[in-house]
Amino acid sequence: MLTKKNNLSELEDSEKGHASTYSSRFFKEDIPKYEFPENSMPANAAYQMIHDELNMDANPSLNLASFVTTWMEPEAEKLITENLHKNFIDHDEYPQTEVIHNRCVNMLARLFNAPEECKSIGAATIGSSEAIMLGLLAHKWKWKKRAKKGAEPNIIFGAEVHVCWEKFARYFDVEMRVIPLEKGRYVISADEVEKRIDENTIAVGAILGTTYSGQADPIEEINDLLLKIKNKKGWDIPLHVDAASGGFVIPFTSPDFVWDFRLEQVKSINVSGHKYGLVYPGIGWIIYRDESDFPKDLVFKVNYLGGWMPTYTLNFSCNASFVLAQYYNFLRLGREGYNHIMTNCVANAQYLSQKLKDSEKFEMINDAQMLPIVAVKLKDSITNYTVYDLSSKLRERGWVMAAYTMPENAQEIALLRVVVRENFSRDMADILFQDIENACAALDSKGGTKKPEIDGKHRPIC
Ligand SMILES: Cc1ncc(COP(=O)(O)O)c(C=O)c1O
Repeated sequence: MLTKKNNLSELEDSEKGHASTYSSRFFKEDIPKYEFPENSMPANAAYQMIHDELNMDANPSLNLASFVTTWMEPEAEKLITENLHKNFIDHDEYPQTEVIHNRCVNMLARLFNAPEECKSIGAATIGSSEAIMLGLLAHKWKWKKRAKKGAEPNIIFGAEVHVCWEKFARYFDVEMRVIPLEKGRYVISADEVEKRIDENTIAVGAILGTTYSGQADPIEEINDLLLKIKNKKGWDIPLHVDAASGGFVIPFTSPDFVWDFRLEQVKSINVSGHKYGLVYPGIGWIIYRDESDFPKDLVFKVNYLGGWMPTYTLNFSCNASFVLAQYYNFLRLGREGYNHIMTNCVANAQYLSQKLKDSEKFEMINDAQMLPIVAVKLKDSITNYTVYDLSSKLRERGWVMAAYTMPENAQEIALLRVVVRENFSRDMADILFQDIENACAALDSKGGTKKPEIDGKHRPIC
């Protein structure tokens, strides 16, 4: 029997079986933030606290800074939820998941036009970063076999690469020969590659859709250069194409654009399943043109999951759900579905670009717009505010837009970027444009920071 003497917390404790979530004492106490908690708390309280705290995060649908998928169909989500408890790497226990994985690898190799005489192989990864490191590691290993004693490996890529390329070079001890950008040129050229290449070049990297501007490096020209060098000097230098974002766009929107295994020196390609592959994070793919492009020494065989199993990814355990969700998208959408979605994305990106151009405040950086990326700079005549001011102002309406500078040598160019994903409709483009206009007007009257950051260290988000 409760008496008047009972204090409130005793009352709550005695009634906790029936209490509503917010009536429990946990909502008026500090929650553990640094020390591992001594005691337990009810599931509903733990859930609600974390759930509510996460309201501080941005709305993923309005996060236009990210290439990564923020919407999937309910059926895909159902499949993901049903399989969340499966570890992808347990092939012995979940053999059908592995079969499905292999189907995805096959489909991707064919999507990327692997020649019929080749036996392409590949693997799911956590994202493109792991995929790129795996691809480059294979090329380093192959170089090692042909290298003269005491030779040091190098790799050539442009300054516009994603940071994972530099990570590879540093983590795996390979000299970086970086091609600097120039004001007005934000991709590399075959001539610049030629200046840096030698017999110890383990690979050349080319990007199908740079993180900075969405442009493509001249992949076919670089391939021609590598073929010329192979014929003249006998150096068989592989080309790795980083198709993190372009790999699920270009095959559908511009199937005749030649960038993939149709080019002889393209030996490996990475693509992010969680970008335009339209799957939630994290899933990426590495595809090798032929099994001979992946050195056998990099395959480990383990038996601790039951049966002998080969493993050749950097990461071991990961969720099976996203591999299955990728297969769902392949079955559900097919070429037809991806084609419609990517065409819509590119059309909406072009629509928004045109409106920004017509406003006479912005200049386009990526006029060709093969990918649905809008990358603009403020015209030199706008001196009252910067892209950083605009990005902060737009945050007040919930939009997240990346503002950043180009890499070294072009770091005075500060950009604002919108990554158009499938859930960014024409209507959203109109709303965003009006919000940009309003933000410009407000900043123009008040003035922004007038201090553009040009340290070249602000990389775009991916
Ligand atoms: C061109 C490029 N390469 C690699 C990456 C890294 O991809 P992930 O986030 O899938 O590891 C990104 C990310 O945006 C990218 O744009």
